[in-house]
Amino acid sequence: MEQKRDQWGSKLGFILAAVGSAVGLGNIWRYPYLLYSNGGGAFLIPYFFALFTAGIPLMILEYGLGHKYKGSTPLAMARANKKWEWLGWWPSINSFIILTYYSMILSWAVNYLYFSLTQAWGTDTNAFFFNDFLKLSSAPFDLGGMVWPIFFGITALWVINWFICYRGVSGGIEKLNKILLPTLIGIMVIIVIRGATLPGASLGLNKLFTPDWSKVMDPKVWIAAYGQVFFSLSLAMGVMMTYSSYLPEKTDINNTAFMTAFANSGFEFLSAIGVFGILGFMASSQGVGIDEVASQSIGLAFVVFPKVFTMMGAFGKIFGVLFFACLVFAGLTSSVSLVEAFSSAIIDKTGMDRKKVVTLAAVGGYLVSIFYATGAGLYFLDIIDAFINSYGIVVVGLAEAVVIGWLLGPGQIREHTNAISYYSIGKWWDVMIKFVTPTVLTFMLVQNIVNEIKSPYGGYPSLALAILGWGVIGLGILLSVVLSKKAWKNNSLENYK
Ligand code: ALA
Repeated sequence: MEQKRDQWGSKLGFILAAVGSAVGLGNIWRYPYLLYSNGGGAFLIPYFFALFTAGIPLMILEYGLGHKYKGSTPLAMARANKKWEWLGWWPSINSFIILTYYSMILSWAVNYLYFSLTQAWGTDTNAFFFNDFLKLSSAPFDLGGMVWPIFFGITALWVINWFICYRGVSGGIEKLNKILLPTLIGIMVIIVIRGATLPGASLGLNKLFTPDWSKVMDPKVWIAAYGQVFFSLSLAMGVMMTYSSYLPEKTDINNTAFMTAFANSGFEFLSAIGVFGILGFMASSQGVGIDEVASQSIGLAFVVFPKVFTMMGAFGKIFGVLFFACLVFAGLTSSVSLVEAFSSAIIDKTGMDRKKVVTLAAVGGYLVSIFYATGAGLYFLDIIDAFINSYGIVVVGLAEAVVIGWLLGPGQIREHTNAISYYSIGKWWDVMIKFVTPTVLTFMLVQNIVNEIKSPYGGYPSLALAILGWGVIGLGILLSVVLSKKAWKNNSLENYK
Protein backbone atom coordinates (compact mmCIF):
# COMPACT_ATOMS: atom_id res chain seq x y z
CA MET A 1 0.00 0.00 0.00
CA GLU A 2 1.30 3.45 -0.93
CA GLN A 3 2.17 5.56 2.13
CA LYS A 4 0.62 8.99 2.47
CA ARG A 5 3.20 11.53 1.39
CA ASP A 6 4.21 14.33 3.75
CA GLN A 7 3.24 17.84 2.66
CA TRP A 8 4.33 21.37 3.34
CA GLY A 9 1.97 23.30 5.61
CA SER A 10 1.98 26.25 3.19
CA LYS A 11 3.54 27.38 -0.05
CA LEU A 12 5.54 29.95 1.87
CA GLY A 13 6.92 27.11 3.98
CA PHE A 14 8.14 25.36 0.82
CA ILE A 15 9.74 28.51 -0.56
CA LEU A 16 11.50 29.23 2.72
CA ALA A 17 12.78 25.67 2.88
CA ALA A 18 14.01 25.73 -0.73
CA VAL A 19 15.73 29.09 -0.21
CA GLY A 20 17.06 27.78 3.12
CA SER A 21 18.62 24.86 1.31
CA ALA A 22 20.13 27.09 -1.37
CA VAL A 23 21.48 29.73 1.00
CA GLY A 24 24.32 27.99 2.75
CA LEU A 25 28.03 28.08 3.37
CA GLY A 26 28.56 28.47 -0.37
CA ASN A 27 26.88 31.89 -0.32
CA ILE A 28 28.82 33.31 2.57
CA TRP A 29 32.33 32.08 2.18
CA ARG A 30 32.65 31.05 -1.45
CA TYR A 31 30.72 33.61 -3.43
CA PRO A 32 32.38 36.87 -2.24
CA TYR A 33 35.87 35.66 -3.06
CA LEU A 34 34.75 34.06 -6.31
CA LEU A 35 33.24 37.35 -7.45
CA TYR A 36 36.38 39.22 -6.48
CA SER A 37 38.94 36.83 -7.96
CA ASN A 38 37.08 36.19 -11.21
CA GLY A 39 36.81 39.68 -12.57
CA GLY A 40 34.70 41.53 -9.97
CA GLY A 41 31.76 43.23 -11.69
CA ALA A 42 32.66 41.43 -14.93
CA PHE A 43 32.01 38.06 -13.23
CA LEU A 44 28.32 38.93 -13.19
CA ILE A 45 28.18 38.18 -16.93
CA PRO A 46 29.19 34.49 -16.65
CA TYR A 47 27.32 34.26 -13.36
CA PHE A 48 23.97 35.40 -14.78
CA PHE A 49 24.59 33.43 -17.95
CA ALA A 50 25.07 30.31 -15.81
CA LEU A 51 21.97 31.15 -13.79
CA PHE A 52 19.74 31.53 -16.84
CA THR A 53 21.18 28.75 -18.99
CA ALA A 54 21.60 26.04 -16.35
CA GLY A 55 20.58 27.12 -12.85
CA ILE A 56 16.97 28.17 -13.43
CA PRO A 57 16.20 25.66 -16.24
CA LEU A 58 17.45 22.78 -14.09
CA MET A 59 15.62 24.12 -11.07
CA ILE A 60 12.36 24.06 -13.07
CA LEU A 61 13.26 20.56 -14.28
CA GLU A 62 13.91 19.27 -10.75
CA TYR A 63 10.82 20.95 -9.29
CA GLY A 64 8.75 19.70 -12.23
CA LEU A 65 9.94 16.08 -12.02
CA GLY A 66 9.55 15.88 -8.24
CA HIS A 67 6.06 17.34 -8.40
CA LYS A 68 4.80 15.47 -11.44
CA TYR A 69 5.99 12.08 -10.22
CA LYS A 70 5.43 12.75 -6.50
CA GLY A 71 8.60 11.17 -5.31
CA SER A 72 12.07 11.60 -3.94
CA THR A 73 14.74 11.76 -6.64
CA PRO A 74 15.08 7.99 -7.36
CA LEU A 75 11.33 7.42 -7.21
CA ALA A 76 10.64 10.36 -9.52
CA MET A 77 13.27 9.16 -12.00
CA ALA A 78 12.03 5.57 -11.81
CA ARG A 79 8.48 6.72 -12.47
CA ALA A 80 9.67 8.80 -15.41
CA ASN A 81 11.48 5.73 -16.73
CA LYS A 82 12.66 2.74 -14.68
CA LYS A 83 15.89 2.61 -16.68
CA TRP A 84 16.98 5.92 -15.17
CA GLU A 85 16.32 5.14 -11.55
CA TRP A 86 20.04 4.94 -10.81
CA LEU A 87 20.36 8.55 -11.92
CA GLY A 88 18.00 9.42 -9.11
CA TRP A 89 20.12 7.58 -6.57
CA TRP A 90 23.34 9.29 -7.49
CA PRO A 91 22.33 12.81 -6.38
CA SER A 92 20.83 11.32 -3.21
CA ILE A 93 24.18 9.70 -2.47
CA ASN A 94 25.93 12.98 -3.35
CA SER A 95 23.81 14.63 -0.68
CA PHE A 96 24.95 12.07 1.89
CA ILE A 97 28.61 12.57 0.97
CA ILE A 98 28.33 16.37 1.07
CA LEU A 99 26.64 16.09 4.45
CA THR A 100 29.57 14.27 5.99
CA TYR A 101 31.91 17.22 5.40
CA TYR A 102 29.27 19.91 5.68
CA SER A 103 28.72 18.83 9.29
CA MET A 104 32.43 19.23 9.98
CA ILE A 105 32.47 22.82 8.70
CA LEU A 106 29.37 23.53 10.74
CA SER A 107 31.12 22.11 13.77
CA TRP A 108 34.02 24.53 13.17
CA ALA A 109 31.53 27.39 12.95
CA VAL A 110 29.87 26.36 16.22
CA ASN A 111 33.27 26.25 17.92
CA TYR A 112 34.20 29.66 16.52
CA LEU A 113 30.87 31.07 17.65
CA TYR A 114 31.97 30.13 21.14
CA PHE A 115 35.54 31.40 20.59
CA SER A 116 34.21 34.79 19.46
CA LEU A 117 32.95 35.48 22.97
CA THR A 118 36.53 35.67 24.25
CA GLN A 119 38.33 35.99 20.90
CA ALA A 120 40.18 32.86 21.92
CA TRP A 121 42.06 32.77 18.60
CA GLY A 122 44.59 35.33 19.87
CA THR A 123 46.74 37.34 17.50
CA ASP A 124 48.02 34.64 15.15
CA THR A 125 44.68 33.42 13.78
CA ASN A 126 46.35 31.29 11.12
CA ALA A 127 48.44 29.27 13.57
CA PHE A 128 45.46 29.04 15.91
CA PHE A 129 43.19 27.61 13.22
CA PHE A 130 45.51 25.09 11.62
CA ASN A 131 47.64 24.03 14.58
CA ASP A 132 45.74 24.63 17.80
CA PHE A 133 42.20 24.07 16.58
CA LEU A 134 42.34 21.64 13.63
CA LYS A 135 45.55 19.94 14.79
CA LEU A 136 46.17 19.39 11.10
CA SER A 137 48.22 16.28 10.40
CA SER A 138 50.94 16.02 7.78
CA ALA A 139 49.02 14.18 5.02
CA PRO A 140 45.59 12.73 4.16
CA PHE A 141 46.41 9.25 5.46
CA ASP A 142 48.00 10.48 8.66
CA LEU A 143 44.85 10.66 10.76
CA GLY A 144 46.53 12.13 13.84
CA GLY A 145 44.34 11.96 16.91
CA MET A 146 40.68 12.72 17.49
CA VAL A 147 40.07 16.46 17.78
CA TRP A 148 37.49 16.55 20.54
CA PRO A 149 35.96 20.02 20.11
CA ILE A 150 35.28 19.18 16.45
CA PHE A 151 33.93 15.77 17.44
CA PHE A 152 31.49 17.30 19.93
CA GLY A 153 30.38 19.90 17.40
CA ILE A 154 29.72 17.18 14.80
CA THR A 155 27.78 15.20 17.39
CA ALA A 156 25.60 18.20 18.24
CA LEU A 157 24.92 18.92 14.56
CA TRP A 158 23.85 15.40 13.79
CA VAL A 159 21.52 15.43 16.79
CA ILE A 160 19.92 18.62 15.42
CA ASN A 161 19.73 17.23 11.86
CA TRP A 162 18.15 14.07 13.20
CA PHE A 163 15.66 15.88 15.42
CA ILE A 164 14.44 18.20 12.66
CA CYS A 165 13.99 15.51 9.99
CA TYR A 166 12.53 13.09 12.55
CA ARG A 167 9.73 15.60 13.13
CA GLY A 168 8.85 15.52 9.45
CA VAL A 169 8.35 17.98 6.64
CA SER A 170 5.90 20.51 8.04
CA GLY A 171 6.54 19.79 11.73
CA GLY A 172 10.35 19.92 11.49
CA ILE A 173 11.92 21.26 8.29
CA GLU A 174 9.30 23.92 7.59
CA LYS A 175 9.31 25.19 11.18
CA LEU A 176 13.10 25.34 11.31
CA ASN A 177 13.26 27.38 8.11
CA LYS A 178 10.46 29.71 9.21
CA ILE A 179 12.56 30.63 12.23
CA LEU A 180 16.11 30.45 10.93
CA LEU A 181 15.81 31.99 7.48
CA PRO A 182 14.32 35.35 8.53
CA THR A 183 16.77 35.44 11.47
CA LEU A 184 19.64 34.75 9.10
CA ILE A 185 18.59 37.51 6.71
CA GLY A 186 18.17 39.93 9.62
CA ILE A 187 21.68 39.19 10.91
CA MET A 188 23.15 39.46 7.42
CA VAL A 189 21.53 42.86 6.91
CA ILE A 190 23.09 44.08 10.18
CA ILE A 191 26.50 42.76 9.09
CA VAL A 192 26.17 44.41 5.69
CA ILE A 193 25.07 47.78 7.05
CA ARG A 194 27.86 47.85 9.60
CA GLY A 195 30.42 46.30 7.22
CA ALA A 196 29.70 48.76 4.42
CA THR A 197 29.90 51.79 6.75
CA LEU A 198 33.18 50.86 8.43
CA PRO A 199 36.07 53.25 7.75
CA GLY A 200 37.85 52.08 4.59
CA ALA A 201 34.94 49.85 3.47
CA SER A 202 34.76 51.66 0.12
CA LEU A 203 38.26 50.40 -0.66
CA GLY A 204 36.97 46.82 -0.54
CA LEU A 205 33.72 47.53 -2.35
CA ASN A 206 35.43 49.41 -5.18
CA LYS A 207 37.87 46.59 -5.64
CA LEU A 208 35.07 44.01 -5.53
CA PHE A 209 32.91 45.63 -8.16
CA THR A 210 35.53 47.12 -10.49
CA PRO A 211 35.11 44.97 -13.59
CA ASP A 212 38.15 43.24 -15.02
CA TRP A 213 36.84 42.51 -18.51
CA SER A 214 39.84 40.43 -19.51
CA LYS A 215 38.56 37.66 -17.23
CA VAL A 216 35.35 37.23 -19.20
CA MET A 217 37.31 35.44 -21.93
CA ASP A 218 38.88 32.97 -19.50
CA PRO A 219 37.15 29.53 -19.53
CA LYS A 220 38.11 28.99 -15.87
CA VAL A 221 35.92 31.92 -14.90
CA TRP A 222 32.94 30.38 -16.67
CA ILE A 223 33.54 27.05 -14.98
CA ALA A 224 33.69 28.81 -11.64
CA ALA A 225 30.38 30.54 -12.38
CA TYR A 226 28.60 27.30 -13.29
CA GLY A 227 30.10 25.47 -10.31
CA GLN A 228 28.91 28.19 -7.96
CA VAL A 229 25.40 28.29 -9.40
CA PHE A 230 25.05 24.51 -9.08
CA PHE A 231 26.35 24.16 -5.56
CA SER A 232 24.61 27.23 -4.34
CA LEU A 233 21.19 26.30 -5.72
CA SER A 234 21.55 22.78 -4.23
CA LEU A 235 21.04 21.33 -7.72
CA ALA A 236 21.94 17.72 -8.53
CA MET A 237 21.86 16.88 -4.83
CA GLY A 238 18.37 15.44 -4.77
CA VAL A 239 17.04 18.27 -2.62
CA MET A 240 14.85 20.23 -5.01
CA MET A 241 13.03 17.21 -6.46
CA THR A 242 12.37 15.87 -2.98
CA TYR A 243 11.15 19.22 -1.65
CA SER A 244 8.79 19.77 -4.59
CA SER A 245 7.33 16.29 -4.16
CA TYR A 246 5.82 17.54 -0.88
CA LEU A 247 3.84 20.27 -2.66
CA PRO A 248 0.08 19.94 -3.09
CA GLU A 249 -1.45 19.19 -6.50
CA LYS A 250 -2.22 22.83 -7.28
CA THR A 251 0.83 24.97 -6.91
CA ASP A 252 3.04 27.35 -8.84
CA ILE A 253 6.32 25.84 -9.91
CA ASN A 254 7.71 28.21 -12.54
CA ASN A 255 7.44 31.33 -10.45
CA THR A 256 8.84 29.57 -7.41
CA ALA A 257 11.92 28.42 -9.31
CA PHE A 258 12.71 32.00 -10.32
CA MET A 259 12.02 33.21 -6.80
CA THR A 260 14.32 30.65 -5.21
CA ALA A 261 17.12 31.47 -7.63
CA PHE A 262 16.80 35.25 -7.23
CA ALA A 263 16.53 35.07 -3.43
CA ASN A 264 19.69 32.98 -3.39
CA SER A 265 21.55 35.42 -5.65
CA GLY A 266 20.31 38.35 -3.56
CA PHE A 267 21.76 36.74 -0.47
CA GLU A 268 25.03 36.14 -2.30
CA PHE A 269 25.31 39.83 -3.21
CA LEU A 270 24.52 40.83 0.35
CA SER A 271 27.28 38.65 1.73
CA ALA A 272 29.74 39.88 -0.89
CA ILE A 273 29.06 43.49 0.13
CA GLY A 274 29.36 42.68 3.83
CA VAL A 275 32.54 40.64 3.41
CA PHE A 276 34.33 43.16 1.18
CA GLY A 277 33.27 46.12 3.33
CA ILE A 278 34.94 44.38 6.25
CA LEU A 279 38.03 43.46 4.21
CA GLY A 280 38.29 47.09 3.07
CA PHE A 281 38.29 48.17 6.70
CA MET A 282 41.03 45.67 7.49
CA ALA A 283 43.20 46.61 4.52
CA SER A 284 42.94 50.33 5.17
CA SER A 285 43.66 49.93 8.91
CA GLN A 286 46.80 47.97 8.06
CA GLY A 287 47.76 50.23 5.17
CA VAL A 288 47.88 47.33 2.70
CA GLY A 289 46.00 46.44 -0.49
CA ILE A 290 42.88 44.26 -0.61
CA ASP A 291 44.88 41.53 -2.36
CA GLU A 292 46.87 41.03 0.80
CA VAL A 293 43.90 40.46 3.05
CA ALA A 294 41.38 38.75 0.75
CA SER A 295 41.23 35.01 1.06
CA GLN A 296 38.85 32.26 0.07
CA SER A 297 36.57 29.81 1.87
CA ILE A 298 37.95 28.56 5.15
CA GLY A 299 40.81 31.05 5.07
CA LEU A 300 38.33 33.90 4.91
CA ALA A 301 35.94 32.66 7.57
CA PHE A 302 38.33 31.14 10.07
CA VAL A 303 41.59 33.06 9.63
CA VAL A 304 40.97 36.52 8.16
CA PHE A 305 37.67 37.36 9.81
CA PRO A 306 38.74 36.42 13.35
CA LYS A 307 41.67 38.81 12.85
CA VAL A 308 39.30 41.61 11.82
CA PHE A 309 37.04 40.93 14.81
CA THR A 310 40.02 41.30 17.12
CA MET A 311 40.96 44.60 15.43
CA MET A 312 37.45 45.89 16.09
CA GLY A 313 37.87 45.58 19.86
CA ALA A 314 34.78 45.04 22.06
CA PHE A 315 32.45 45.57 19.12
CA GLY A 316 34.30 42.79 17.31
CA LYS A 317 32.97 40.30 19.85
CA ILE A 318 29.39 41.08 18.85
CA PHE A 319 30.34 41.07 15.19
CA GLY A 320 32.09 37.71 15.57
CA VAL A 321 29.07 36.16 17.23
CA LEU A 322 26.80 37.51 14.48
CA PHE A 323 29.05 36.28 11.69
CA PHE A 324 29.48 32.75 13.01
CA ALA A 325 25.79 32.55 13.91
CA CYS A 326 25.13 33.41 10.27
CA LEU A 327 27.34 30.55 9.11
CA VAL A 328 25.69 28.11 11.52
CA PHE A 329 22.12 29.10 10.58
CA ALA A 330 22.81 29.13 6.84
CA GLY A 331 24.56 25.77 7.08
CA LEU A 332 21.87 24.16 9.21
CA THR A 333 19.00 24.87 6.84
CA SER A 334 21.12 23.40 4.01
CA SER A 335 22.32 20.34 5.94
CA VAL A 336 18.77 19.47 6.97
CA SER A 337 17.74 19.57 3.30
CA LEU A 338 20.52 17.15 2.44
CA VAL A 339 19.46 14.73 5.19
CA GLU A 340 15.91 14.92 3.91
CA ALA A 341 16.95 14.29 0.30
CA PHE A 342 18.78 11.14 1.30
CA SER A 343 16.27 9.87 3.87
CA SER A 344 13.28 10.47 1.65
CA ALA A 345 14.80 8.25 -1.04
CA ILE A 346 15.21 5.40 1.47
CA ILE A 347 11.71 5.93 2.89
CA ASP A 348 10.22 5.73 -0.60
CA LYS A 349 12.25 2.67 -1.56
CA THR A 350 11.86 0.56 1.57
CA GLY A 351 8.49 1.75 2.82
CA MET A 352 10.06 2.00 6.27
CA ASP A 353 8.80 4.51 8.79
CA ARG A 354 10.32 8.04 8.53
CA LYS A 355 11.46 8.02 12.15
CA LYS A 356 13.37 4.77 11.70
CA VAL A 357 14.98 5.82 8.41
CA VAL A 358 16.00 9.27 9.66
CA THR A 359 17.53 7.70 12.77
CA LEU A 360 19.51 5.17 10.71
CA ALA A 361 20.62 7.85 8.23
CA ALA A 362 21.72 10.15 11.04
CA VAL A 363 23.67 7.40 12.81
CA GLY A 364 25.31 6.35 9.51
CA GLY A 365 26.16 9.93 8.55
CA TYR A 366 27.48 10.63 12.00
CA LEU A 367 29.77 7.60 11.99
CA VAL A 368 31.29 8.65 8.66
CA SER A 369 31.58 12.30 9.79
CA ILE A 370 33.69 11.23 12.78
CA PHE A 371 36.59 10.62 10.39
CA TYR A 372 36.55 14.34 9.72
CA ALA A 373 37.08 15.02 13.40
CA THR A 374 40.63 13.71 13.09
CA GLY A 375 43.76 15.68 12.26
CA ALA A 376 43.28 14.77 8.57
CA GLY A 377 39.70 16.11 8.37
CA LEU A 378 40.64 19.17 6.34
CA TYR A 379 42.35 17.04 3.68
CA PHE A 380 39.29 14.79 3.36
CA LEU A 381 37.07 17.83 3.00
CA ASP A 382 39.30 19.46 0.43
CA ILE A 383 39.61 16.44 -1.86
CA ILE A 384 36.06 15.10 -1.57
CA ASP A 385 34.46 18.52 -1.99
CA ALA A 386 36.55 19.25 -5.10
CA PHE A 387 35.63 15.94 -6.75
CA ILE A 388 31.96 16.08 -5.81
CA ASN A 389 31.73 19.59 -7.27
CA SER A 390 33.75 18.93 -10.41
CA TYR A 391 32.37 15.51 -11.25
CA GLY A 392 29.48 14.37 -9.04
CA ILE A 393 27.27 17.44 -9.36
CA VAL A 394 28.22 18.44 -12.90
CA VAL A 395 27.71 14.97 -14.33
CA VAL A 396 24.37 14.50 -12.58
CA GLY A 397 23.19 17.90 -13.89
CA LEU A 398 24.38 17.02 -17.38
CA ALA A 399 22.74 13.59 -17.26
CA GLU A 400 19.45 15.04 -16.00
CA ALA A 401 19.41 17.50 -18.91
CA VAL A 402 20.30 14.84 -21.49
CA VAL A 403 17.82 12.25 -20.18
CA ILE A 404 14.93 14.69 -19.97
CA GLY A 405 15.94 16.71 -23.02
CA TRP A 406 16.65 13.87 -25.41
CA LEU A 407 15.24 10.63 -24.10
CA LEU A 408 12.09 11.41 -22.17
CA GLY A 409 11.18 14.72 -23.76
CA PRO A 410 11.22 18.11 -22.05
CA GLY A 411 7.70 18.87 -23.31
CA GLN A 412 6.05 16.65 -20.70
CA ILE A 413 7.70 18.51 -17.80
CA ARG A 414 7.04 21.94 -19.35
CA GLU A 415 3.38 21.08 -19.94
CA HIS A 416 3.05 19.82 -16.38
CA THR A 417 4.54 22.93 -14.76
CA ASN A 418 2.71 25.28 -17.13
CA ALA A 419 -0.64 23.68 -16.31
CA ILE A 420 -0.28 24.53 -12.63
CA SER A 421 1.79 27.74 -12.70
CA TYR A 422 0.67 31.37 -12.86
CA TYR A 423 2.69 31.98 -15.96
CA SER A 424 3.97 29.61 -18.57
CA ILE A 425 7.48 28.97 -19.68
CA GLY A 426 7.96 28.84 -23.42
CA LYS A 427 9.87 26.60 -25.78
CA TRP A 428 13.05 28.47 -24.78
CA TRP A 429 13.15 26.12 -21.79
CA ASP A 430 13.27 23.04 -24.06
CA VAL A 431 16.11 24.66 -25.99
CA MET A 432 18.04 25.24 -22.76
CA ILE A 433 17.53 21.70 -21.50
CA LYS A 434 18.24 20.05 -24.86
CA PHE A 435 21.11 22.13 -26.17
CA VAL A 436 22.49 24.90 -24.01
CA THR A 437 22.73 23.23 -20.58
CA PRO A 438 24.27 19.97 -21.91
CA THR A 439 26.74 21.89 -24.09
CA VAL A 440 28.07 24.09 -21.32
CA LEU A 441 28.16 21.26 -18.80
CA THR A 442 30.02 18.98 -21.22
CA PHE A 443 32.51 21.77 -21.82
CA MET A 444 32.91 22.20 -18.09
CA LEU A 445 33.37 18.49 -17.50
CA VAL A 446 35.99 18.14 -20.24
CA GLN A 447 37.89 21.16 -18.89
CA ASN A 448 37.82 19.69 -15.38
CA ILE A 449 39.17 16.35 -16.59
CA VAL A 450 41.90 17.97 -18.69
CA ASN A 451 42.94 20.17 -15.76
CA GLU A 452 42.96 17.16 -13.45
CA ILE A 453 45.22 15.22 -15.82
CA LYS A 454 47.54 18.19 -16.32
CA SER A 455 47.88 18.96 -12.65
CA PRO A 456 46.26 16.59 -10.15
CA TYR A 457 44.11 18.41 -7.63
CA GLY A 458 45.86 20.27 -4.82
CA GLY A 459 49.17 18.47 -5.40
CA TYR A 460 47.97 15.58 -3.20
CA PRO A 461 49.53 12.09 -3.52
CA SER A 462 47.94 10.03 -6.31
CA LEU A 463 46.70 7.40 -3.86
CA ALA A 464 44.79 10.00 -1.83
CA LEU A 465 43.15 11.38 -5.00
CA ALA A 466 42.42 7.86 -6.25
CA ILE A 467 40.68 6.83 -3.04
CA LEU A 468 39.10 10.02 -1.72
CA GLY A 469 38.45 11.59 -5.11
CA TRP A 470 37.79 9.08 -7.88
CA GLY A 471 37.02 6.32 -5.38
CA VAL A 472 34.24 8.27 -3.69
CA ILE A 473 32.73 9.25 -7.06
CA GLY A 474 32.97 5.63 -8.29
CA LEU A 475 31.41 4.31 -5.10
CA GLY A 476 28.53 6.75 -5.53
CA ILE A 477 27.81 5.44 -9.03
CA LEU A 478 28.18 1.80 -8.01
CA LEU A 479 25.82 2.18 -5.05
CA SER A 480 23.33 3.98 -7.28
CA VAL A 481 23.25 1.10 -9.73
CA VAL A 482 22.98 -1.51 -6.97
CA LEU A 483 20.15 0.33 -5.22
CA SER A 484 18.27 0.80 -8.46
CA LYS A 485 18.16 -3.00 -8.92
CA LYS A 486 16.25 -3.51 -5.66
CA ALA A 487 12.47 -3.71 -5.73
CA TRP A 488 10.24 -0.87 -4.53
CA LYS A 489 8.41 -1.99 -1.41
CA ASN A 490 5.42 0.29 -0.98
CA ASN A 491 5.48 2.57 -3.97
CA SER A 492 4.11 1.45 -7.26
CA LEU A 493 5.88 2.91 -10.23
CA GLU A 494 2.72 3.35 -12.24
CA ASN A 495 -0.38 4.21 -10.26
CA TYR A 496 0.82 7.14 -8.23
CA LYS A 497 -1.86 9.71 -9.04
N1 ALA B 1 23.35 25.22 -1.36
C1 ALA B 1 24.13 24.96 -0.22
C2 ALA B 1 25.27 25.92 -0.07
O1 ALA B 1 25.38 26.87 -0.80
C3 ALA B 1 24.56 23.53 -0.21
O2 ALA B 1 26.07 25.78 0.80
